[in-house]
Amino acid sequence: MDFKEHIIEKIVKLTELERETVENSIEVPPEEKMGDLAFPCFPLAKVMRKAPPVIAQELAERLSDDDMIDKVQPVGGYVNFFFNREKFISETVKEIEKAPEKWGMSNEGEGKTVLCEYSSPNIAKPFHIGHLFSTAVGNSLARIYKHLGYKVHSLNHLGDWGTQFGKLISAYKRWGDREVIEKDPINELLKIYVKFHDEAETHPELEDEARGYFKKLEDGDEETTALWKYFRDISLVEFKRVYDMLGVEFDSYNGEAFYSDKMDEVVNILRDKGLLTESDGAQVVDLCELNIPPCIILKSDGATIYATRDIAAALYRHRTYDFYKNIYVVGIPQALHFKQIFTVMKKAGWEWADGCEHVGFGLVKLPGKNMSTRHGDVVFLEDVLNESIEKTKEIIISNGSAVDDADDAAKKIGIGAILYTFLKNGREKDIVFSWESMLDFDGESAPYCQYGYARGRSILRRAEGIDFKNADFSKTVSDEEYSLVKQLSGFADAVKTAADKNEPFYINRYVTNLTKAFNKFYNTNPILKDDVDEETKKARLALVSVTTEVIKSALYLLGIETVESM
Ligand code: ARG
Repeated sequence: MDFKEHIIEKIVKLTELERETVENSIEVPPEEKMGDLAFPCFPLAKVMRKAPPVIAQELAERLSDDDMIDKVQPVGGYVNFFFNREKFISETVKEIEKAPEKWGMSNEGEGKTVLCEYSSPNIAKPFHIGHLFSTAVGNSLARIYKHLGYKVHSLNHLGDWGTQFGKLISAYKRWGDREVIEKDPINELLKIYVKFHDEAETHPELEDEARGYFKKLEDGDEETTALWKYFRDISLVEFKRVYDMLGVEFDSYNGEAFYSDKMDEVVNILRDKGLLTESDGAQVVDLCELNIPPCIILKSDGATIYATRDIAAALYRHRTYDFYKNIYVVGIPQALHFKQIFTVMKKAGWEWADGCEHVGFGLVKLPGKNMSTRHGDVVFLEDVLNESIEKTKEIIISNGSAVDDADDAAKKIGIGAILYTFLKNGREKDIVFSWESMLDFDGESAPYCQYGYARGRSILRRAEGIDFKNADFSKTVSDEEYSLVKQLSGFADAVKTAADKNEPFYINRYVTNLTKAFNKFYNTNPILKDDVDEETKKARLALVSVTTEVIKSALYLLGIETVESM
């Protein structure tokens, strides 16, 4: 039975207010000692022509307690409700026990498809920290939507098309050495690409050559296409190594190139609808009514660009998936680009464009020179991940932790620490990476939550053989026990809010608070000590068991793995 629901019904019956009004006004008091839920009487003052505290007093008298509610208390203009702890704890725990992996799930997404586009690095360029930010947020959102019953497709919109590939091909034909490239593909391709730019400054004819190669590529020329494919393949091998480390998967790697043959249609549609105008030789869609620069569709040389490919991609996605939402997890610097293309799509009369949403994120500042890198100036992501793993391993060893496999644990904790850092605050905030706070096992960090989980698992291992199903909770109603269960009961709300706002940090905050409540609980309430009576022992073990399950699910929604001991 849902306690909140129960209280709403009671109030509705008594006041004859609209259900929705009550539902929307009922709130969680700022402090635990003020009860579990509060109903503010201010909106009633006008209708009842009485002061809110008087109304609260009267309501409280008539809203008698029952087997679910221990106390109804008027305070100022509020009526505060105190749940019956034993009932609340036992019903919540039993509900989780029925299907722990389903806790916090809902069916709000039934029959609806969400496309989650994230990561989207550029071929032959380093996978940089911004792409990691996108990967962390996108992967988490994909999991959150799945938890709510949506059908989710994870899309990686690779940057694998554009005039830069003409340059790369030209550079490769001049200075490329397959053997050298194969040893360190992205770094070497980047080197010759940079060299091309340097050379082109004194030899502008190189630019023409590059344009020629891109034209050939667009026309499907065999040799240039084979080279392009080679660059794409070796880059993907590198990217997939990072995805494997992160445990991230995609349903599609259709990048910009995939849409190169789907753009004529878009250009024709926009032209037929009279949306294209000429500007300095280019074909653009004017957006001055929004006070933003026009969206360029065809460059003056007739070539399509990034925006055109994105519009073609959105149309393709609509036709292929008939999406409910189409989310783009891309840095804030591209906010204008998305605003432009979404507006163009709406102007084309595509109502479904309302389901498209840019989910932006801030900048990442790395801890300066402390970040070791094999690659000179460019920080390679894999190096950052590896450094985190190494540092974690040092900590594990110096702590004398009881891990079975230090390498495996260091990987899960080290990578978890990085993901957690990206998802710790609202995504639009900039992030400053600090190894100290990232790997602080006592602070707000992934290792802190993973440690809480491992601690719980170790208690359960020691309790092997004790059957704690159907425990009796009449004696486990201390403040710590009650707070812990209240945290457990809040999972579904956290998941829903995270999805509504496309903000995984709600889950991050949730799992951190849950772990804090769990710590407090086991530090103040002995579980396996000899002087704990059997019923209490079982009840507390049941709490440990469901809590570890929920910590694990919540961390999973952040892309973070757990370890059994640490
Ligand atoms: N490849 C781009 C970059 O690295 C990100 C692509 C974003 N997605 C999109 N549909 N435009 O900046």
